[in-house]
Amino acid sequence: MTSANDLAALAIDIAREAGDLARVRRGEGVAIAATKSALADIVTDADREVEALIRARLSNERPEDGFLGEETGAERGSSDITWVVDPIDGTVNYAYGIPAYAVSIAAVTGEPTPEEWHAVAGAVYNPPLGEMFHAAEGEGAWLGDARLAVNTDPMTAGALLATGFGYDPATHAGDLERVARVMPLARDLRRAGAASLDFAYVAAGRLDGYFERGLQPWDHAAGALLVTEAGGRVGGAGPDGRVSNALSVASAPEVFDRLLAAALGA
Ligand code: IPD
Repeated sequence: MTSANDLAALAIDIAREAGDLARVRRGEGVAIAATKSALADIVTDADREVEALIRARLSNERPEDGFLGEETGAERGSSDITWVVDPIDGTVNYAYGIPAYAVSIAAVTGEPTPEEWHAVAGAVYNPPLGEMFHAAEGEGAWLGDARLAVNTDPMTAGALLATGFGYDPATHAGDLERVARVMPLARDLRRAGAASLDFAYVAAGRLDGYFERGLQPWDHAAGALLVTEAGGRVGGAGPDGRVSNALSVASAPEVFDRLLAAALGA
């Protein structure tokens, strides 16, 4: 049986190679290949090339595992493991040249849906900064060789929070109402543009909490494990309070219940 550490090591290795390719392609110039759910929801040639690299490496090294990727969709495997992949999370940052984008790779077991899966390993790699966040179940969350812990005293001056807004303009009014409900808890609010890094920053204590509606499975699969392995809490509007497309929340334990209640409007 493969250990969570072995899966994390593979996620790290592939994320580094994939991220380095994304960084090289960024230096050569970015071509928008298509739009997806909305005009603002773009895919670049690099998203596709980087996902192809990740998928090829996984199918070479773990041919029995399943795959769920942002650009190329889902394929069931014969093992219990599925790799959940966002080749370039923060594509709009990437296209604009803002150095806040990441390769996100997670290994999950069970049904490959966020309502049911169990995350066992993950890596979130920000190529411009060379920061490799990674976690294996029960083995902690790490930035390179440094163990991560969520901020345990975030509320003295209010919590430093982050959020995001979906690509569909029709959802923005509701998202802004959520921001208004949450702001009484906050000392300030960030919108950096890459969900996987928002989760990673909560794990690293660079943020006290993060909330967003509209996340896709590949946006949170690796990041959520980073947060729980760093001692934080993750949840949302899904079954049994799990992360879901309707709402995802990650934070230090001290903030979580208040943040979730405010974000839900409960
Ligand atoms: C997006 C980013 C963004 C978040 C969106 C995501 P993508 O992912 O994570 O921060 O607000 O909800 O879709 O499209 O750049 O991979």
